[in-house]
Amino acid sequence: NNTFSGDSLRLSLIVLDEVTSTNDYFKTQLSNFKPLPEFTAIMAKKQTNGRGQRDSTWLSEENANITFSLLLYPTFLKLPDHFILNMCISLGLIHWFHSLQIDAKIKWPNDIMINNKKVCGILIENTSNSKGIKHAIVGIGVNANQENFPAEIKHKASSILRETSYRLPSLETACEAIIRHIHQLYSRLQKKEISTDQLLEEYNKFLFLRGQTGLYRAGDETFEAEIKEVSPDGKLHLLRNYQISTFYFKEVEFLLQ
Ligand code: BTN
Repeated sequence: NNTFSGDSLRLSLIVLDEVTSTNDYFKTQLSNFKPLPEFTAIMAKKQTNGRGQRDSTWLSEENANITFSLLLYPTFLKLPDHFILNMCISLGLIHWFHSLQIDAKIKWPNDIMINNKKVCGILIENTSNSKGIKHAIVGIGVNANQENFPAEIKHKASSILRETSYRLPSLETACEAIIRHIHQLYSRLQKKEISTDQLLEEYNKFLFLRGQTGLYRAGDETFEAEIKEVSPDGKLHLLRNYQISTFYFKEVEFLLQ
């Protein structure tokens, strides 16, 4: 277990060989009232029950990829503002990718894509009270050095190594760097050095497929539309038959390939 400091970040990064899910690890600790400081992170070499969005399973090759959770206490955010935290995490990751000269994009709401393929997923689980978000467990999975993907998902999932030929020399160092990039944005947001408008502007700048026409599904309907932007409440704005339709997460699905 290492504690790093510098640029006011005190990060405790705990690396475990095996855990069911790093998000669940924090859930258990918090439900047992374990006092854990903000920016405690749990990284796992192997997850036996990794979880993804929409109740999916997150499969990740052992010792090839980065799987970790970060504990935050964003009490300065109200629950309806949860998209702000989402933007902060997505953009922190984008900044990290850019620091490696990798051109990554954000697929709304929070997948990270390289060359039209998903290389990173985020699962944020918030607990709130009347004052706002009490704690957020930010789970991040980055496909880093995985060389092969099952045939069924090869067209949509990939790794940094496959897309850029760059092999991360240390998953742990990379994990720490990601957290530093997230911390940069998070602390500036907390100190009001950046506004949520600025965050949103940058989020939209790196939005995957923005300005392009694609195929979408909402309910039983499949339609062609163009991504215009994401609004401050986190809604996706699609231009469809000369009209703007807006969607919350889970109301619309991308039918990419
Ligand atoms: C998704 O894209 O569906 C989100 C995937 C999130 C995966 C990460 S891996 C670390 C953390 N622990 C989990 O069980 N899930 C998240």
